[in-house]
Amino acid sequence: MSLQLGDTAPNFTAETTEGTIQFHDYLGDSWGVLFSHPADFTPVCTTELGAVAKLNKKFESRNVKVAAISVDPIESHVDWISDINETQNTTVDYPMIADPDGEVAELYGMIHPNSDDKMTVRSVFIIAPDKSIKLMITYPASTGRNFDEILRVIDSLQLTVNHSLATPANWNHGDDVIIAPSVSDEEAAERFPDHVKVKPYLRVTGQPNL
Ligand code: BEZ
Repeated sequence: MSLQLGDTAPNFTAETTEGTIQFHDYLGDSWGVLFSHPADFTPVCTTELGAVAKLNKKFESRNVKVAAISVDPIESHVDWISDINETQNTTVDYPMIADPDGEVAELYGMIHPNSDDKMTVRSVFIIAPDKSIKLMITYPASTGRNFDEILRVIDSLQLTVNHSLATPANWNHGDDVIIAPSVSDEEAAERFPDHVKVKPYLRVTGQPNL
């Protein structure tokens, strides 16, 4: 059966541009973002890997480790990095996983045969420190991903884990947040004294960690 939210992210050992990694060891106590791209030396992918490099300080500040993956061999990844750095004006400073036999892609369901049976699709997995999968999304090959959205989801997930808060539609960092239904009214009054009870099920408060 394919992976679902809450499942443990499969562990694997693979060659990367930063040396051989054992994925769970690489993540350690951090959050993780594992994202696949269809192929090296392709235009949309070049912009995506450059975009992640530019955002990597923001991922790191949230205790997130990122890793890219495709079914290309390690030599291809190494050659392509200089093109990414040159054309996107950045420095790729995170591992690109080489998966020439498609073993990791198979574990994560990143090959969609009705789309293309040889290339990985544009998948994103957000993985919590306990290695559980918190988000899975798949984009079409022709659409470059919005990695600010991935950061936004991480901010939301960390508010949930650390403060029992949820985030409303179109929420952005700094906007008001929602007290999770699992928090009783008594606890809400104690933890979020300034919250507004719009409805019994809709309790709104300011973002705490600003
Ligand atoms: C690209 O990265 O530009 C791309 C890769 C595979 C299919 C279509 C576009």
